[in-house]
Amino acid sequence: MTTRILPALRGLMSNQQTLPRLKRIEPDGKEPVVSIPPGCADVPGALRKQLPAGAKRVTIDTLGTYEAGFSNAHGRVAGKIAVVTGAAQGFGFEIAADLARQGAWVALADINVDGVNAAAAKINADCGRETAIGVAVNVADADSLKAALEQVVAAFGGVDLFVANAGVLRAGSVKELSVKDLDFVTNVNYKGYFLSVQTVAPIMALQHQTVPEVWFDIVQINSKSGLTGSNKNGAYAGSKFGGIGLTQSFALELVEDGIKVNSICPGNFYDGPLWSDPQKGLFKQYLDSGKVPGAKTFADVKKFYEAKVPMRRGCTTPDVMKAIYYLTEQAYETGQALPVTGGQVMLS
Ligand SMILES: NC(=O)c1ccc[n+]([C@@H]2O[C@H](COP(=O)([O-])OP(=O)(O)OC[C@H]3O[C@@H](n4cnc5c(N)ncnc54)[C@H](O)[C@@H]3O)[C@@H](O)[C@H]2O)c1
Repeated sequence: MTTRILPALRGLMSNQQTLPRLKRIEPDGKEPVVSIPPGCADVPGALRKQLPAGAKRVTIDTLGTYEAGFSNAHGRVAGKIAVVTGAAQGFGFEIAADLARQGAWVALADINVDGVNAAAAKINADCGRETAIGVAVNVADADSLKAALEQVVAAFGGVDLFVANAGVLRAGSVKELSVKDLDFVTNVNYKGYFLSVQTVAPIMALQHQTVPEVWFDIVQINSKSGLTGSNKNGAYAGSKFGGIGLTQSFALELVEDGIKVNSICPGNFYDGPLWSDPQKGLFKQYLDSGKVPGAKTFADVKKFYEAKVPMRRGCTTPDVMKAIYYLTEQAYETGQALPVTGGQVMLS
């Protein structure tokens, strides 16, 4: 029920196209009470009829009492509600931290529950305000996503920006990769992105229905391997190519719901744990497997890959953030796959 009611309420309590955060509060008995019968087919219509003009607090009979709050934070996403999947570490954590610094309320969602709770606590401590929450999710599981989004909407009231970042990699030749590894990569990177959009889009659509002038954003963190093949890494590259097919298709379909859908395709992010983890990272894997001819150290492996980049360095989170802010601020673009690769991939 939460995801069917609060996003519409948020839209109807908006102030000149700014949607508030909804916060659950203790009722003082003076709030107007709105009744939404179970199975109500037109929640926005029912709310519109019953909600007094200018109400800042309201009791929904089945959900509790909520207050509309407008952020006084500053920044490029001030007052927006963002969800970032795969946010316990790596790109996801750094994206969530930057969105919080730029004024957003952020739900960090990850399968690593302890990790994501610690990550959210760190962001709150760094920002000096309660702006982030940690949420458990397995993006490959529709029920888990549904429960996670219920939790986000219960905490904040809706979603303005969804960053589909959770992703995994199992490198290996097509001649050897196990079906188990293929399924693992496909389930998280491809199916997980599909299910994420399937779960969050109705929330954004409900908001758009109540404030048609306002658009919402889904941004997938794809990869340069979604634009060009990756040697002995076909499962990953295939899942990322597929993700761009989903982005283009969702973009066509969700225009009518006021949702832009775009992908960002970063180059290698050497500073993150995926590459740098001393035990499991790609530097170690590639060194041990002899994938880089003559390499004796992590630095040799890094130099080999940096040499493939015209700008001779890896991708960083600030590079990716510029792309996220471009795509969200640009009102006239959807269905794009934006490379952030230092020139390693050039679109024709
Ligand atoms: N690291 C790179 O060089 C690089 C380059 C281009 C694109 N990317 C993409 O960026 C994204 C993030 O990569 P990263 O390097 O930060 O990875 P990472 O391995 O450091 O972090 C991935 C996070 O996703 C979480 N996760 C994994 N499976 C999940 C699931 N089923 N449900 C929810 N969470 C799950 C993990 O717990 C982890 O916290 C991925 O989509 C990846 O493909 C990474």
